[in-house]
Amino acid sequence: MAIRKVGVLGCGLMGAGIAEVAAKAGFDVVVREVDRVTLEKGLGRIRGSLDKAVEKGKLEAAARDAALGRLAGTVDFTDLSDCDLVVEAIVENLDEKKRVYAAVDGVLGDGAILASNTSSLTVTQLAMSTRRPDRFVGLHFFNPVPVMKLVEVVRTLLTDESALADVTEFCKAIGKTPVACRDNSGFIVNRLLVPYLLDAIRALEEGVGSVQDIDEGMKLGCGYPMGPFTLLDFVGLDTTYYIANIMFEEYREKRFAPPPLLKQMVQAGRFGRKSGRGFYEYAAK
Ligand code: CAA
Ligand code: NAD
Repeated sequence: MAIRKVGVLGCGLMGAGIAEVAAKAGFDVVVREVDRVTLEKGLGRIRGSLDKAVEKGKLEAAARDAALGRLAGTVDFTDLSDCDLVVEAIVENLDEKKRVYAAVDGVLGDGAILASNTSSLTVTQLAMSTRRPDRFVGLHFFNPVPVMKLVEVVRTLLTDESALADVTEFCKAIGKTPVACRDNSGFIVNRLLVPYLLDAIRALEEGVGSVQDIDEGMKLGCGYPMGPFTLLDFVGLDTTYYIANIMFEEYREKRFAPPPLLKQMVQAGRFGRKSGRGFYEYAAK
């Protein structure tokens, strides 16, 4: 396989998970954050997750140490210059993503592949903002990355076959199951999942049931591992709000429109687990 060194842009919920699974699978990884404090928080998240895996007997202490040895953090784009693949996992905002591609595109070699973990933006518009649209793909991971097996591999009309083969091979090498998707907003999973999550909020607004009862209903009635409000808090209400706006803009259908309660919770700083409060309250870590 052509991919040996992997760059990750963003070390939040998703970037930390992607960096962790790639380092665990034997790839050299460098993860870039906006500043030292945020970077240290993200690297701490990775260390904590690997420590937990060791505590649970799922990972040897030596394998954890080796993974951490393969992982570097940076705030400097030039440290990504020798990466064969860079996976972008920054905030779900078109302008921010374009800004980051402009900074990283110039430092990468011509053969390097750029991938976005976007949930809802179309990959074509992201690819066209770079100088490598033929070597640009969507690699959509799922939260929590160390546990969820799926990666949606998104090609555009311009994607080079060899780049697609390389990223598909990479997904398998890190223990994931790739599925091929067309470049439509939300791909396969969010096309179906996002309207369901937004509809749960609408059901709450309409007084159909309480947060707890709606969650309990979907867990016990449908066998889902988490009810919709637990999952919304888990994904992040800020991220869900950005996704809903992008998908509504794309499809102009009510099922993708962000409900007023979601907007108000984001305005109030209730982002879910990451901020300590969303539909539920969480003890500070
Ligand atoms: N990192 C590593 N391992 C983790 C973890 C994490 N963050 N969270 C849980 N685990 C592991 C646990 O260690 C445990 O492993 P063992 O069974 O080997 O002990 C296993 O996962 C199950 O965890 P728990 O027993 O603590 O809790 P659970 O049974 O409720 O499972 C869960 C947790 C896997 C998160 C499960 O609740 C689940 O699958 N929830 C739904 C998640 C989901 O739908 N994700 C998709 C979100 S949408 C998205 O990602 C796309 C987007 O664009 C927004
Ligand atoms: P997050 O808010 O947890 O993390 C985003 C991180 O990106 C932050 O740490 C931020 O400091 C960093 N960042 C912002 N600008 C940056 C830049 N210029 N360079 C480097 N880092 C930068 O968000 P997240 O949940 O990890 O989402 C990231 C991406 O993954 C989004 O596109 C989102 O739609 C997608 N996604 C999210 C989920 C989910 O469940 N949360 C699942 C799949 C995909």
